[in-house]
Amino acid sequence: MLCQLALSALALSASAVASTSSTVDTYVSSEGPLARAGLLANIGPDGSKASGASAGVVVASPSTTSPNYVYSWVRDSSLVFKAIIDQYTTGQDDSFLDLINDFITAEATLQHLTSPSGNITTGGLGEPKFYVNETAFEGPWGRPQRDGPALRSTAMITFANHLIANGNTTWVKDTLWPIIQLDLDYVSANWNETTFDLWEELQSSSFFTTAVQHRSLREGSALATAIKETSVVSGYDTQADNLLCFLQSYWDSSSGYIVANTGGGRSGKDANTALASIHTFDPAAGCDAATFQPCSDKALSSLKVYVDSFRSLYGINAGVAQNGSVATGRYPEDVYYNGNPWYLTTSAVAEQLYDALTVWNTTGSLNITSTSLPFFQDLLPSAATGTYDSSSSTYTTLISAIRDYADGFLAINAKYTPTDGALSEQYSKANGTQVSAVDLTWSYAAALTAFSARNSTKYASWGAAGLTVPSTCTANPGSTVSVTFTVEKDTSNGESVYITGNVDALQDWNPTAALLMDDKSYPNWTVTVKLPASQVVEYKYLTISNGTVAWEADPNNSISTPAKGTLAANDSWQS
Ligand SMILES: *[C@@H]1O[C@H](CO)[C@@H](O)[C@H](O)[C@H]1NC(C)=O
Ligand SMILES: *[C@@H]1O[C@H](CO)[C@@H](O)[C@H](O)[C@H]1NC(C)=O
Ligand SMILES: *[C@@H]1O[C@H](CO)[C@@H](O)[C@H](O)[C@H]1NC(C)=O
Ligand SMILES: *[C@@H]1O[C@H](CO)[C@@H](O)[C@H](O)[C@H]1NC(C)=O
Ligand SMILES: *[C@@H]1O[C@H](CO)[C@@H](O)[C@H](O)[C@H]1NC(C)=O
Ligand SMILES: *[C@@H]1O[C@H](CO)[C@@H](O)[C@H](O)[C@H]1NC(C)=O
Ligand SMILES: *[C@@H]1O[C@H](CO)[C@@H](O)[C@H](O)[C@H]1NC(C)=O
Ligand SMILES: *[C@@H]1O[C@H](CO)[C@@H](O)[C@H](O)[C@H]1NC(C)=O
Ligand SMILES: *[C@@H]1O[C@H](CO)[C@@H](O)[C@H](O)[C@H]1NC(C)=O
Ligand SMILES: *[C@@H]1O[C@H](CO)[C@@H](O)[C@H](O)[C@H]1NC(C)=O
Ligand SMILES: *[C@@H]1O[C@H](CO)[C@@H](O)[C@H](O)[C@H]1NC(C)=O
Ligand SMILES: *[C@@H]1O[C@H](CO)[C@@H](O)[C@H](O)[C@H]1NC(C)=O
Repeated sequence: MLCQLALSALALSASAVASTSSTVDTYVSSEGPLARAGLLANIGPDGSKASGASAGVVVASPSTTSPNYVYSWVRDSSLVFKAIIDQYTTGQDDSFLDLINDFITAEATLQHLTSPSGNITTGGLGEPKFYVNETAFEGPWGRPQRDGPALRSTAMITFANHLIANGNTTWVKDTLWPIIQLDLDYVSANWNETTFDLWEELQSSSFFTTAVQHRSLREGSALATAIKETSVVSGYDTQADNLLCFLQSYWDSSSGYIVANTGGGRSGKDANTALASIHTFDPAAGCDAATFQPCSDKALSSLKVYVDSFRSLYGINAGVAQNGSVATGRYPEDVYYNGNPWYLTTSAVAEQLYDALTVWNTTGSLNITSTSLPFFQDLLPSAATGTYDSSSSTYTTLISAIRDYADGFLAINAKYTPTDGALSEQYSKANGTQVSAVDLTWSYAAALTAFSARNSTKYASWGAAGLTVPSTCTANPGSTVSVTFTVEKDTSNGESVYITGNVDALQDWNPTAALLMDDKSYPNWTVTVKLPASQVVEYKYLTISNGTVAWEADPNNSISTPAKGTLAANDSWQS
């Protein structure tokens, strides 16, 4: 009797699994063409939902209100075009060539716009979003976002490598390289400055940004070598090593996950880290943990911690076993639209697992370390640390369970995808109906890259294999210039004047850490600070009297620091 029960339970789970796999087969074949069409509809000038967008400009979503996403983000556009360029360069879709050339032209235009982040030489490359008619957006926003130039150069480098392999080096060297070099020089000079994260909320250091910056400089150095632009190579290599070193610092060994941001006061469990892993996947690097490859023990452990944080958070995940696939969102503390699952984060989990499977399938072996053991034990409770080759039952059981687990995440997205295949940004945690922006271009791109990963589509290496992490990390303060701030302010007894602003040297807008100014030329208060060169810096003065903080009135003050030399900023208190 017992035996029979166990047998029928097995049969039940086998058929449940078979149906997940075939559900996902069906989803991939129906959603694949719809996602491709949905993505193309949002790209100018001809996209049916991209009216007003210039050629090659990606509209984030056609949603005009609640939220208005009719803008072009450098991050979203670059990830979307990386997916397009990957399809083109792997021979899956030859029709994309004209669009890729439009993208390059459009982004070169955006690079040269003057925006609140500055102009081309004063930090403008860190500007996160633009109007779709290729003009600057001047409103307040979380800026700068320093992942944009890195992701954009990675997309273009992938295309450049393809052109070189096909004998078109001249065009790469003369036309494409100058565009790529602007972004790489920006990354090289500014990676060690704080940034807004990919969700545009926290200004600190962010794992996703550091990881994609590292990748861009590695492959940028290789491209520069290939086209004999040798003057930049050693600088990029040095900063890539510094980035690889810094990247390690996000790993929290006691908690077993990558902490997504250095600031923000959150748990740090965040889709940021799975997205970083899939967007820096290098099939040649195996399960390298220094670059947090998808099958590395650290990335798998982190994935488990991230996924687990949503199990009891969303109503639609109720009743799913501890080792079952669930809908995931950006991070558990998310309150945007009340905090819901996103298509692109749930598919990122699947994609990381498919990427891992691709490597294990290729090497024919799988390692379990003490770090990754909890991840594997969810899927095979008897799993133990060790190396298992493809002839072992541990290997075959785990490969099959992980494949089913990965499919489970896409099956959830499938369940909440309407029959027309439209993918919004989010779906309700309570009932799965679509929430926030409709037709999110990044959602479509994320579906396509996950589907390709499920097929083990092979992409070129970007140079992650065999890297050595420097034993001590070196910062890159970049160039700095001396700026003397002077403000005239009458104060009462015991009241002092301070300054704070949007850079580390001005204490990142923290009034309790603000810099005390000198009153020896009273009523003028002064302080001299070393600030990053060639950057727009915003700041304000404040007074503190017996612990009470009083800010000067809006707007924020702003200066553009020069490339070298000194600057005097003379202000009067805004009241
Ligand atoms: C960028 O701004 C700086 C400082 O305002 C200015 O000196 C420089 O000429 C500008 N560069 C361009 C290309 O506009
Ligand atoms: C570009 O688009 C913005 C936002 O729709 C609009 O305010 C602006 O006038 C447009 N500029 C040009 C030059 O068309
Ligand atoms: C090289 O590639 C560029 C961009 O696609 C294209 O415009 C150009 O015609 C190509 N040149 C040759 C010789 O194929
Ligand atoms: C700059 O790099 C150093 C060395 O890796 C690191 O300790 C520091 O946190 C970094 N700061 C930023 C803002 O990137
Ligand atoms: C597993 O570990 C062994 C020994 O440490 C190593 O040689 C091998 O490359 C690893 N394989 C994978 C897939 O990580
Ligand atoms: C890995 O191998 C398994 C078993 O042969 C296969 O089903 C799967 O498609 C392969 N690749 C991926 C990404 O799962
Ligand atoms: C899920 O966990 C249960 C309980 O630990 C275990 O018996 C089962 O094998 C796991 N299933 C899969 C597919 O990993
Ligand atoms: C689904 O849940 C959302 C809240 O997340 C609610 O606004 C909506 O009315 C619900 N729709 C249905 C069909 O229950
Ligand atoms: C997966 O591979 C098969 C066989 O090569 C191909 O027909 C199919 O189009 C691929 N699907 C995706 C989504 O890449
Ligand atoms: C205060 O600064 C202003 C210029 O900002 C200058 O004209 C004035 O002489 C200064 N006063 C003193 C006491 O240094
Ligand atoms: C400073 O604040 C403390 C606590 O509020 C108060 O007791 C004290 O009298 C204040 N001193 C002055 C000089 O205002
Ligand atoms: C000044 O900068 C802070 C920090 O970025 C920002 O929150 C605030 O909105 C800015 N003030 C104005 C008036 O733009």
